[in-house]
Amino acid sequence: MKEIARGAEAVLYEHKGMIIKRRLRKNYRIKELDEELRKQRTRREASLLLKTPIPHPRLIRTDYKEEIVMERVIGEKVRDILDEKPELARQIGCLVAELHNHNIIHGDLTTSNMILNKEKNVVFIDFGLSFHSHKIEDKAVDIHLFKQALDSKHHKVYDAALKEFLEGYKKANKYKEIIKRLEMVELRGRYKKG
Ligand SMILES: Nc1ncnc2c1ncn2[C@@H]1O[C@H](COP(=O)(O)OP(=O)(O)OP(=O)(O)O)[C@@H](O)[C@H]1O
Ligand SMILES: [Mg+2]
Repeated sequence: MKEIARGAEAVLYEHKGMIIKRRLRKNYRIKELDEELRKQRTRREASLLLKTPIPHPRLIRTDYKEEIVMERVIGEKVRDILDEKPELARQIGCLVAELHNHNIIHGDLTTSNMILNKEKNVVFIDFGLSFHSHKIEDKAVDIHLFKQALDSKHHKVYDAALKEFLEGYKKANKYKEIIKRLEMVELRGRYKKG
């Protein structure tokens, strides 16, 4: 078993074409709370892997507590290639629209949670913060997080990538309402900071 990544929450291993994602105990959290959080995120991720309508790694097994075993997606992290291929953001926009049309909020839309596979399809991973909601506000915040990720990691291509993303996202039901709400979310953010 080879360790391939250690994120804020989890350690990931690769083994025979599978990825084992284990959520680590955090000693700074109260034990009961820590167990509950890890269990909740593991369950969310496992359940989303079973029902998300967009390309995702296949769930192989889970203990519903701290560990998920899933298919390894072979490809390039979108974080590493978006600067050269900002047009990829259009596909990402389409996929987020599809998720939102099924009332699924990803909750952590960054380009390190997306992999471009050999068939040139963007595959979303990391559903530990995902949840169900039909609320315009939750969809707007999801997009706001993606814009922030673009701003911090893909500053060079921010404008081009955002344009492509929004073009793809036009497929979302209530697109106009969501974008209007996004503007409000951003004004609110600015208001808070100022
Ligand atoms: N199914 C998979 N196939 C291939 N690589 C994967 C898969 N799942 C995760 N990875 C790799 O491991 C990294 C971390 O996984 P993940 O995002 O699920 O955990 P995380 O704890 O949120 O980490 P981070 O804080 O870095 O986002 C990913 O960025 C990706 O490179
Ligand atoms: Mg991640």
